[in-house]
Amino acid sequence: LSHPCIFVLFGGTGDLARKKLIPALFRLHAKEIAGGRFAIVAVGRRAMTLAEYAASVRPSLPDSAEEPFDEALWKLFCDRLFYFRLDFSEDVSAFQSLGRELSDLDRRFETCGNRIFCLAISPVLMKTVIQSLQDSGMIHNEDSWQRVMIEKPFGTDLESAAQLNRSLTSCLPEERIFRVDHYLGKEMIQNILSLRFGNILFESVWNREHIDHIQITSAETIGMESRGAYYENTGILRDMLQSHILQVLSLVCMDPPKALDTRSVIAEKVKVLRSLKLTENSEQRARVLLGQYGPGRIDSTDVPGYRKETMVSESSLTPTFAALKVYLDMPRWKGVPVYIRAGKRLDRKIFEIAVVFRHPKDLPRYPEFTHALPNALIIRIQPCGEILVRINVKEQDADQPVRSVVLDCSEKCICRQNSPESYERLIQEILLDHHALFTTWNELSHAWKFTEKVEAAAAKNSYCFPNYPAGSEGPKGSYDLIGQDGRHWMEETDENL
Ligand SMILES: NC(=O)c1ccc[n+]([C@@H]2O[C@H](COP(=O)([O-])OP(=O)(O)OC[C@H]3O[C@@H](n4cnc5c(N)ncnc54)[C@H](OP(=O)(O)O)[C@@H]3O)[C@@H](O)[C@H]2O)c1
Repeated sequence: LSHPCIFVLFGGTGDLARKKLIPALFRLHAKEIAGGRFAIVAVGRRAMTLAEYAASVRPSLPDSAEEPFDEALWKLFCDRLFYFRLDFSEDVSAFQSLGRELSDLDRRFETCGNRIFCLAISPVLMKTVIQSLQDSGMIHNEDSWQRVMIEKPFGTDLESAAQLNRSLTSCLPEERIFRVDHYLGKEMIQNILSLRFGNILFESVWNREHIDHIQITSAETIGMESRGAYYENTGILRDMLQSHILQVLSLVCMDPPKALDTRSVIAEKVKVLRSLKLTENSEQRARVLLGQYGPGRIDSTDVPGYRKETMVSESSLTPTFAALKVYLDMPRWKGVPVYIRAGKRLDRKIFEIAVVFRHPKDLPRYPEFTHALPNALIIRIQPCGEILVRINVKEQDADQPVRSVVLDCSEKCICRQNSPESYERLIQEILLDHHALFTTWNELSHAWKFTEKVEAAAAKNSYCFPNYPAGSEGPKGSYDLIGQDGRHWMEETDENL
């Protein structure tokens, strides 16, 4: 493979660059994805030498028994790594001098003017950077290609996202824009389509006749780390619901596409996003609950409440937890609720989808199975990729005619603390000019519209924050939210799961 290119990393000194992007680039370098014709220019606001920059990112590279650090490879990587200081508030000449530096590197690494401009920066800065790239002549699309990789969140609300999209599309054709939702780069998320459409077993029962409800749970144990300022203006709904959760929901609930090509899949995902509702006709009031963590204990260590995190207001009303009940206005899902819960500083780290089938007691002829558990399919994305199926089998020599067993279909379990695999995959897809793992404006605009509806519905309730201690299962109200319907959250600790 040879895809000559310079990867220009705006936000090169930031948290995302250090934790995810540089490790992903290091692995791609190890795979020689660009056939050696590749260079990386990290752009940051602070003044630092290349040696200082390299030393600052070095600790985030993998170094474990299973993946020992390769010093020789690192030296070769550093030969292609550069640091460029630039403040976006400077005039266009600063970008022009970056452009000259890139042209010099083109000659040295034979990268032919091809660029991936990666915007790992706050969404409020993106418009300025795109405009400056355009004004300085760095996006020209002749005899070479320039692609823009845009980190999520895409905008901070619907209006700012629409503005950002207008700026982008006025400079670049759609096929050069790659909007990142890194969950789409995860192996298990891609597995959803294979599971659904590669198995008659599932696809034939993937509807309201057979499925009782769906749950999506996103739980994190971490708090704000260094991201308090970002989170204050974002909160759980804009950070998780608008992006990862609605993307996953659209893959789980879409109607079968005509084919599994990008265009057909996206058309069906958009139909799901457009169909999202907070109530069914019979229900008067949306079910949305917000939460914010107070102080608590995680892994036997005391941790502060959200309001004591760095760069967070002492009276902040930013939610760090949300639970909601959602409907889809689609014939396939009429009457089937999707329960969603997401939170920070909870008692475990997990991202999973539970598809809970109708109860065996709905098979009226067989009272013997009244006490059996409903079938369930669990697709666990984090901390490990796992697929579990709960079925009922005969109980030997017992009063109960059946007992539940769980089939573990997980091919492999990948657990890494600092896993850059999804970014590695995404950057590789951009080099190959493949769009399947990126989100479109159509999807994002509907996701923003729905998120704003959820925020408006949530604002009608009053909350007394903090309403759950760090290290707990979240606010008690999230159990009532699903319990009112005679259902419960599937837990790892559930019997037979
Ligand atoms: N961190 C994550 O895990 C994560 C995950 C998913 C998405 N994201 C998204 O990725 C983006 C970056 O996040 P982050 O956590 O890496 O942020 P961050 O740690 O705050 O880093 C921000 C970066 O932007 C640079 N910057 C800020 N103002 C600048 C200016 N006026 N001129 C030039 N550079 C400027 C900073 O440079 P200096 O440091 O040199 O000032 C730094 O490199 C955000 O949109 C975030 O939502 C982050």
